[in-house]
Amino acid sequence: MNILGIETSCDETGVAVYAIGVGLRAHAVYSQIELHAQYGGVVPELASRDHVRKLLPLIRQTLDEAGLGTGDIDGVAYTAGPGLVGALLVGAGVARSLAWALDVPAIGVHHMEGHLLAPLMEDATTQPPFVALLVSGGHTQLVAVEAIGRYRLLGETLDDAAGEAFDKTAKMMDLPYPGGPQLAALAEQGRPGIYRFSRPMTDRPGLDFSFSGLKTQVLLTWRDSDKSAQTRADIARAFEDAVVDTLAIKCERALEAAGCDTLVVAGGVGANRRLRARLQAMAEKRGGRVSFPRPVFCTDNGAMIAFAGALRLAAGQHGDAAVRVTPRWDM
Ligand code: KG4
Ligand code: ZN
Repeated sequence: MNILGIETSCDETGVAVYAIGVGLRAHAVYSQIELHAQYGGVVPELASRDHVRKLLPLIRQTLDEAGLGTGDIDGVAYTAGPGLVGALLVGAGVARSLAWALDVPAIGVHHMEGHLLAPLMEDATTQPPFVALLVSGGHTQLVAVEAIGRYRLLGETLDDAAGEAFDKTAKMMDLPYPGGPQLAALAEQGRPGIYRFSRPMTDRPGLDFSFSGLKTQVLLTWRDSDKSAQTRADIARAFEDAVVDTLAIKCERALEAAGCDTLVVAGGVGANRRLRARLQAMAEKRGGRVSFPRPVFCTDNGAMIAFAGALRLAAGQHGDAAVRVTPRWDM
């Protein structure tokens, strides 16, 4: 069973083929970063147009790489939400049309479920139950995964998502878009302990997060600093340490609350090197383990959508023929 996966929820066009029982056959991601960089953020209308331009060539390229023809596709999975509505409609329209023409099932996948299951795609040893930390530009959530499709929200951010905090902080410090990875790269040159920011909401019980105050702390520190290159790196380091520490403290709490040994990390911020190292150390200390997807599968991609779709199709689930997308959608 070859499942074609299509991701167009934001500024990445992702396509992949996942074969049940075999694994990932091919995948390709086209990033619109350069297009949006000149505006300092994603422009929804331009994102939709670029998905229209790129999606079919990317499907062709991915099938060629997999050595498959359209006749070999047994199902089409696409991101049905949450995300930018116009961008979602491009993927949904193409996926549904293709499925209809090929007379195969189409399945709309929740973008965050795609992220959540991504670590399992290349790591068959990780199986539910586990706790998942979802950290992207739009979400920061701790989820107890009791089984595939059975998710319990343990905690989430009350304001900014962790990735959003990275991006906004980077922008404040005059780093080019997209800021998160740039800020993380800068932090590598920063010295630890020169500045210190708070670890929001770790001083009280609970599993929710809040990152907007941290951003303000950085703003004030940056504004009053000498703005030298080393200072900028030192502030970036202190910011990253605060976010990483906060996430690690809450992850440990979540594992204890859920009575789990396994932590799974997903979403774009999961590509952060220091976060990976910190969570690894925490899990080892507890005698448990942590599973991350490869960095390329942490950020938006078609493979996670193909994989989530494959699991759902294998379980006998798929939707009707209507093209429906859900820009706001709880998992
Ligand atoms: O999952 P994703 O590709 O898109 C969604 O938001 O769904 O995540 C993107 C987010 C952005 O906020 C980006 O700044 C952040 O992930 N990000 C990082 C790193 N790489 C990507 N944040 C910190 N360190 C990184 N290395
Ligand atoms: Zn995402």
